[in-house]
Amino acid sequence: MNHTLTTASSLRGTVQVPGDKSISHRAVMFGALAEGDTHITGFLMGEDCLSTISCFRSMGIDIDVSEEEVIVHGAGLHGLKAPSELLYTGNSGTTTRLLCGILAGQPFTSTLNGDASIQKRPMGRIIKPLRLMGADIDGRDGNLCPLTVRPAQLHGIRYDMPVASAQLKSAILLAGLFADGKTTVIEPAASRDHTERMLRGLGAQVESNGTEITLTPPETLHAVDVDVPGDISSAAYFLVAGLILPDSEITIRNVGINPTRTGILDALEAMGADIERLNERGTVEPVCDLRVRSSRLHGTVISGDLIPRLIDELPVLAVAAAFAEGETVICDAQELKVKESNRIAAMTAELSRTGADVAETEDGMIIHGGKPLHGATFTSYADHRVAMSMAVCALACEGDSSIDDPACVAISYPTFFETLDSLKGDGT
Ligand code: S3P
Repeated sequence: MNHTLTTASSLRGTVQVPGDKSISHRAVMFGALAEGDTHITGFLMGEDCLSTISCFRSMGIDIDVSEEEVIVHGAGLHGLKAPSELLYTGNSGTTTRLLCGILAGQPFTSTLNGDASIQKRPMGRIIKPLRLMGADIDGRDGNLCPLTVRPAQLHGIRYDMPVASAQLKSAILLAGLFADGKTTVIEPAASRDHTERMLRGLGAQVESNGTEITLTPPETLHAVDVDVPGDISSAAYFLVAGLILPDSEITIRNVGINPTRTGILDALEAMGADIERLNERGTVEPVCDLRVRSSRLHGTVISGDLIPRLIDELPVLAVAAAFAEGETVICDAQELKVKESNRIAAMTAELSRTGADVAETEDGMIIHGGKPLHGATFTSYADHRVAMSMAVCALACEGDSSIDDPACVAISYPTFFETLDSLKGDGT
């Protein structure tokens, strides 16, 4: 059903975004493999993370879910049980790829599959290194879901990763938990490092030397409670909305600012954004409150090592670029083509509907921003980040817009539209 996206003259107030998706997934997965109970507060109750919970329940892990917290009753490194049915990973690339790394080291056979989008996403990137570790793993047509994983004895490898992907890095390191000998991965550029930080917290030896990471297989992992910070990828929609609408000021409380995730702040600041980091705190994962004020944005170049540090924020950065004076070039971002949708094609098509000057390139987009845009009927491609990005764009267009499948935002941000509405008028 189509959903109307209204314009706004300004946005003001304070919001708290849901928990970080990457950390929520990992808290459940690592909690399941640890000895003892893991109490998770701030867990993201989005569909992707619920897929992770349901897969681990299928492997015999008791997980209590209440409004206040999620409690994972860990079974230890060798405590997972053979699932009686297919492990369904829904729309979640993180569930699919990280789980595969864990399954590669189990003494049982399992099959995993996800929705139509997951069935198109490349799995060859994990199959190849896992096989080098000795894994017995097969995919449809060699590199697609469904994937079947059979028991095998794994051994550590040293692997030069062809793409900067935290999902790939994590799949290899997680298989390394069950391997003989050390496992080393070398990244072409630093991707998010939640896996390394959290495994260290559970007692594993994980050494990082630049972009080279080595895991020594531990005897056991010890459960540690996790307080999940707000997701900077969800905060990004309010950052851009606050910047492009006049007379706006939004405070976003409790946002994770792990440096492998703050490329969005760097890119927006390079575009002239007024964003303050307040009350910096946190240990394993740094956190702060972000305050954004309307700003006159100008074009920039977003490329190279910055890309993995803002990969999920590129759709909404394209929106910021459409309202920024001058040219913005996004390049080295081929990975966007293999996300929940082809986000280069999707964002080029949807922004063009508003009259924006956007050209698709091989590895990104070139956007000439700054002219007035008009409302339109948008397609989400069943991609939560495209839907939320176009909702932000619609706020600053002339005339209302609409979007199909607004419900897809539930993948990462079930209450997105309500929170956005709360900032219209004089929201507090
Ligand atoms: C994620 C890593 C990123 C990101 C995804 C979550 C993770 O994917 O796009 O939303 O939790 O490890 P890649 O690692 O494949 O780039």
